[in-house]
Amino acid sequence: MKKTILSGIRPTGNLHLGHVFGAIQNWVKLQEEYECFFEIADVQALTDNFEHPEKVRKNVMELTIDLLSVGIDPKKAHLFIQSQISEIAELTVFYSNLVTMARLYRNPTVKTEIAQKKALFGNEGESVTYGFVGYPVSQAADITALRGELIPVGDDQLPLIEQCREIVRKFNAIYGETLKEPEYLLSKTPRIKGLDGQEKMGKSLGNALYLNDSSEIVSQKIMNAITDPQKIKKDDPANPEICMVYYYHQLIQNPNLKTVCQECKNGTRGCVACKKELIARMEEFLAPIREKSRYYENHLEEVQKILEEGTKEAKKRSTETIQQVKKSMMIDYEKDSTQER
Ligand code: TRP
Repeated sequence: MKKTILSGIRPTGNLHLGHVFGAIQNWVKLQEEYECFFEIADVQALTDNFEHPEKVRKNVMELTIDLLSVGIDPKKAHLFIQSQISEIAELTVFYSNLVTMARLYRNPTVKTEIAQKKALFGNEGESVTYGFVGYPVSQAADITALRGELIPVGDDQLPLIEQCREIVRKFNAIYGETLKEPEYLLSKTPRIKGLDGQEKMGKSLGNALYLNDSSEIVSQKIMNAITDPQKIKKDDPANPEICMVYYYHQLIQNPNLKTVCQECKNGTRGCVACKKELIARMEEFLAPIREKSRYYENHLEEVQKILEEGTKEAKKRSTETIQQVKKSMMIDYEKDSTQER
């Protein structure tokens, strides 16, 4: 039996290279070996965007197209929409008794995100909702509904997996052995640096290179990338280790990498030429992705069908899970089981 992988992504916008190199390329590999469920976490996206449902809705389709274009294969992995699995919402309610408010506020991921909200909106009381503070509970429901065994995440998500494990232990201790504790699968490159030299590429950091950026934009963004600040003249030797252009040559696995590195170090490669090479290779990297994306944009009914089928599989599993959970919690009122009691 293949082990089950469960991971999720919020539909908050188009995919950028940070997502691709940090997570999705790993998903594409994992689908070869495991039973994979990849969740479009629209309910989770609503915790931050509940006033803009139209945005989340639009992003679900766009994100799905991006995922398919990068290589998620619907024949190998199940792509499903969180909101369509009502069992996840049910589990969230059941688990909410097993978690204290203090524990949620102590969760480092929640803590960091509350601090960010505070910085953005000022008064914490006005911006931090019950749904937001509770999203680790809902994420535990995602994981356990699908009976995910291995959860590929970045290190910022580890506290959420830990909290899920705690909920599972508590559930089993109180209601009897029902759920399985998931383990995390840490991404080797969880944080992809921005071309601007920031530690992370992110939408909110304004430094993301998106899969759907036009060639002109890609070229512009790469031309503005940060290189070794000590290199002033074209033939100054430089240190590729601190150069974002070299970093991206590595990420897209430039076959010419050794030469790039050598020439940079001995000063025979100017930054402009180096950036131009990166632009050309990035275009090569993006070409098949753009082509697939165009295909799916013109075949939206196919995308719809992929989501429907993935969601159907997810529903099947979650239905089994919720039956077991309700039995353990003695809230199964089907005729037979009531008579048994
Ligand atoms: N919280 C995750 C993120 O923002 C997305 C997510 C939702 C997830 N449900 C999940 C990740 C379940 C792993 C497992 O990146």
